[in-house]
Amino acid sequence: MTGVVQIRPLVGADLAEASALHREILDMEFLSRCGPGFMRAYYRAWAEAPGAISLVARDEEGALLGVVLGATDPATHVRAMVRNGGARLGAHLILHAVGHPSFARDLLVTRARRYARGLVRLVASRLSPSRTNAEVSEGPRVGEITHVLVRADRQGSGVGRALLDAAIAAGRAADLDELVLVTPPDLAAGGFYRHLGWRADGEMTSRSGEAFVRYRYLLDAGGRGEGGKPPGPR
Ligand SMILES: CC(C)(COP(=O)(O)OP(=O)(O)OC[C@H]1O[C@@H](n2cnc3c(N)ncnc32)[C@H](O)[C@@H]1OP(=O)(O)O)[C@@H](O)C(=O)NCCC(=O)NCCS
Repeated sequence: MTGVVQIRPLVGADLAEASALHREILDMEFLSRCGPGFMRAYYRAWAEAPGAISLVARDEEGALLGVVLGATDPATHVRAMVRNGGARLGAHLILHAVGHPSFARDLLVTRARRYARGLVRLVASRLSPSRTNAEVSEGPRVGEITHVLVRADRQGSGVGRALLDAAIAAGRAADLDELVLVTPPDLAAGGFYRHLGWRADGEMTSRSGEAFVRYRYLLDAGGRGEGGKPPGPR
C-alpha cells in the first residue's frame, strides 16, 4: 500500500470508475439506486456544471482511492446541471425505473413531484433562454460539499482528509465565506467531520423526508476552519 495521494479534478476518464465507487461506498443513498448509467451521467453533469467541486484521489500507480463532490455556488450549479444534463438524467431514471419496480415505487413516493417541477422549469428555461438566472447576493458566500467517499480498503489512511482539504482550498480559491454539508445522523462520518474542524449546526429533514445533521466550516483567513470567526445565529 502506498502513502502517496494525488488529488486532481475529475475528468471524463474518471467518470465510470468514480461513479461505480460512489455506488459501492454510498450504497445506502437513494442516488446509488438509480443505476450505473444514471450515475455516470450524474457525475458528468456535476463535473461539467460551472462552480463544480469534483476531485478524485489516486495513488501513484493511478488507482482510484476516493472522490469528493461539491459546489462553490450550489444554486447556480444545480440549475446548470439540470439545464445541460437534465434530459439525459431523466431518460436514465425512467429506463432504470422501468426495469426495477421497487425503485420505481420509491421514486414516485419520495421524489416524483419535485423532479416533475424541475422538468417544468427545464422546459420553461429552454423556451425562454434569454431569461438569465443571475442573482446578486449580499449575504455570505456559502458553498457545499455533497459527497466524500474513500475506497473501503483505504479508509483511515488520510485520503478523506486530503480530499476535504482540497475541497476547502477550492472554496477559498472561489472566495467563499463558508462550506456546509449534511450527513445522516447515524453515519460514522459525523465524527470525521467534527475531528477535522466542522461544526454541527442542527438537524434538518430533506424534501424527501430523510433526517440529516448539518455541518459548517468557516473559511477564515487563518485557514483553521472554525478557529477564526464566531458561529452564526442558530
Ligand atoms: C468518512 C470517510 C470519507 C473518511 O475518510 P478516511 O480516508 O477514512 O479518513 P482519514 O483517514 O482521512 O481521517 C482523517 C482524520 O479523521 C479521523 N477520523 C476518520 N474517521 C473518523 C470517525 N468516524 N470519527 C472520528 N474521527 C475520524 C482519523 O482518525 C484521522 O485523524 P488524524 O488525521 O488526526 O489521525 C471515509 O471513511 C468513507 O468513505 N466512509 C464511507 C462513506 C461516507 O460515510 N462518506 C461520508 C458521507 S457523504
